Amino acid sequence: MEEMEDYDARVTPYMIDESEFAAVHTLEEKAKFLLRYAVLAPSGHNAQPWQFGLTGDGVLVYADYSRRLPVANPDDRELIMSVATSITNLRIAAAHFGLACDVRYLPQPGKKDLLASVKLSEGQADHRMADLFPAVLTRWTNRFEYDDKKLSEADRAELGPFTTLGGASIAIITDDVTRGKLADVIEQGDLKRMADKAFTRELSDWIRPDRSRKTDGMLATALGIPPLVSGVAPWIVRTFNTSKSQAKKESALARASAALVVLHGEDETINLLEAGELLERFILKLTFVSMFYSFFNLPVELDDLRAKIQSLAGIDDQPQLLLRIGYGARPKTDSLRRSVEDVLKA
Ligand SMILES: Cc1cc2nc3c(=O)[nH]c(=O)nc-3n(C[C@H](O)[C@H](O)[C@H](O)COP(=O)(O)O)c2cc1C
Repeated sequence: MEEMEDYDARVTPYMIDESEFAAVHTLEEKAKFLLRYAVLAPSGHNAQPWQFGLTGDGVLVYADYSRRLPVANPDDRELIMSVATSITNLRIAAAHFGLACDVRYLPQPGKKDLLASVKLSEGQADHRMADLFPAVLTRWTNRFEYDDKKLSEADRAELGPFTTLGGASIAIITDDVTRGKLADVIEQGDLKRMADKAFTRELSDWIRPDRSRKTDGMLATALGIPPLVSGVAPWIVRTFNTSKSQAKKESALARASAALVVLHGEDETINLLEAGELLERFILKLTFVSMFYSFFNLPVELDDLRAKIQSLAGIDDQPQLLLRIGYGARPKTDSLRRSVEDVLKA
C-alpha cells in the first residue's frame, strides 16, 4: 500500500468515527462500513488472512491463502479460525448498528476459499451480539505478566454462556495440578518449535520493529521485546536459539495464570469456523469483564503434544487453541492492521 506521511497504521484503523454510519445509506455502503470492525479481529502472527467481497446486500468472506503460515500452521486450522474471528466482528458491528445478519458457512462447497456469505437486512438485530461491541475496539492480546489472582466465581459465571458454539467448546481449567502439567506441555512445545530454524525464520518474517510502517505482523513490543532492540528483533529471532528462555517464560506465565483455556472441536472447516467464532466471542467477553488473555499455541500444532493436551483437558475431540486468562491493569499495546480498501477482493 502507498505510504502517506500522516498515516499511522497502528492508530488509524482503530479510530473509527461511529457517527459516519449515519451518512451511509445503501446496504452495500453499510456493509463496507462494518468491515472497519471486521479487520480489527485477531489472527495468527497478525497475518490477517482474510478478504471480503461486497455483494450489494452483504459480504462474501474469503480465506486469503497467500497469507498462510506453512510452518507454524501447516493444516491452516488457525487460518480458518482467524477468518472466523472477523465474521464475529461483522455480526457484532451489524447488530450494534441495528442490522440483522444472516451468516452461511461454505455457501459454495466446491469453492475452498469462500468461507462464508453474510447477508444484511433491516430486520431484527441480535442484542447479545451488540452488547459485545465496545470490546471490539479495546480487545488486545496481552502477552505480559498478569496479577496473581484466581478466576472469580462471578467472572466464571459471566464467561459461561460464551463457552460453546455449535460443535466448538471451551474448557476452563483452574486446578493447579492440571495447569502445572499443561505448563510442562507448553514448555516442551516452545523448546521444540523455537529451536526449529524453519519455524523461527517464518516467525521472524512477521515480527515488526516498533517504527514499522507495515500494516500486518506483530510489533516487537507486543511480544515483550524491549524498544531499544526492537529494530533488530526479527534478526535476533532468526539468528539465535531463544527456545530455552521462551519455554521458561511461557511455562511460568501459564503456571501463574488465573486459568488455562482449551478451545476444542473437530478439524473440519465448518467446525473450525465455529471454533474461531467462539474464540472471538470468548475473548471479547473477557475484555468486557476487564480480563486479559494470551495464546500458547505452539504445542497444539505438534501431534504428540496435542494428544497430551487432549488427555489433560479430558476432551474427546481435538484441542484447537490453548490460552491463559487472567487479571491486570496494563494499557493496550498497539497492533497493526490493514485498511478495508486493502482487504477488498478485486
Ligand atoms: C487462531 C489464533 C492463534 C494465535 N496463536 C498465537 C500464539 O500461539 N502465540 C501468540 O503469542 N499469539 C497468538 N495469537 C495472537 C495473534 O498474534 C494476535 O491476535 C495478533 O498479533 C494481533 O494482535 P491483537 O490480538 O493484539 O490485535 C493467535 C491468534 C489467533 C486468532
